Amino acid sequence: RSQPLVLGIESSCDETGVGIVRGTDLLTNTVSSSMDEHVRFGGVIPEIASRAHLDAFVPTLQAALAEADVTLDDIDAIAVTSGPGLAGALMVGVCAAKALAVATGKPLYAINHLVAHVGVGLLDARAENLLPENLGALLVSGGHTEILRIRRITDDVEMLGSTIDDAAGEAYDKVARILGLGYPGGPAIDRLAREGNAKAIRFPRGLTQPKYMGTAEEPGPHRYDWSFSGLKTAVARCVEQFEAQGEAVPVADIAAAFQEAVVDVITSKAVLACREQGITNVLLGGGVAANSRLRQLTEQRCSAAGITLHVPPLGLCTDNGAMVAALGAQLVMAGIEPSGISFAPDSSMP
Ligand code: KG4
Ligand code: ZN
Repeated sequence: RSQPLVLGIESSCDETGVGIVRGTDLLTNTVSSSMDEHVRFGGVIPEIASRAHLDAFVPTLQAALAEADVTLDDIDAIAVTSGPGLAGALMVGVCAAKALAVATGKPLYAINHLVAHVGVGLLDARAENLLPENLGALLVSGGHTEILRIRRITDDVEMLGSTIDDAAGEAYDKVARILGLGYPGGPAIDRLAREGNAKAIRFPRGLTQPKYMGTAEEPGPHRYDWSFSGLKTAVARCVEQFEAQGEAVPVADIAAAFQEAVVDVITSKAVLACREQGITNVLLGGGVAANSRLRQLTEQRCSAAGITLHVPPLGLCTDNGAMVAALGAQLVMAGIEPSGISFAPDSSMP
């Protein structure tokens, strides 16, 4: 049988995404973002995002079909993000997907957004059943920071460690706000950090003290976990100190030192977890995987530890429909039953 042609729909936050894949081949990844409408509020406003999805869905779908040069008739299955995310935003994509499924009679798959961030890494694989043995995933986004073990991407994903407070992307966004860099903060800090000296200031690496780490034999309570809220507070204190002394705030140095603290602790704990848990292949995913320093240091440390790292191209790291289609195709190829049309979006899906 030829590889399944799968249409994926993403609407969990501010990106309306429609992607089309054939098995593990990417045909198109069409994304429309309402980010411009949220910028002046300094964060995504759920109501505005939902309305923007309503406006953008049909044009985005049409553009995707045209670019892939296929019709709805050609599609074998439809996949849609059903959670986690903003409830109203998810609702638009899920309703659109159900309507398409009913109108065309195609099977519909409900997709976990976080697993899709990881599943997108399979698109650059060549063969049909590509999941390597001993696979892990480092998922770093605006809502999540997690190290996962993937036994079967379709239904057996175990969390080894995660943030206990802010996600890494959230920390980037909050620190960017403190530094007056606007929203979204990740790309702004990434750019500015290149002009700064990361060693000028040393910010704390959360949960790295022995009482949290323990040892390989007797792990502490947070050996593979992260915490970024203390780091954000340390940046705020640092800015206050410069201001109190009437000195110019060295924004680029602070951005670089903050970024180094985040990236250092993410990569060191992820590599530790992989080494101790026998994980030899890692997929990097999530919006913060677009970060240049994270990509660089993860590559270096994985390679030093003998771990093979799979990094998706930049456009597939932030939210998009292709990742949903990619995971949907895996479900189809694994012979998993479709979800039907009676499932509800779940904004807090684990
Ligand atoms: O995965 P994503 O698009 O949405 C969520 O599911 O959260 O991730 C968005 C997050 C935002 O916090 C944004 O600031 C961050 O990813 N981000 C970055 C970069 N590009 C996006 N963080 C650091 N460096 C970047 N280059
Ligand atoms: Zn995401």
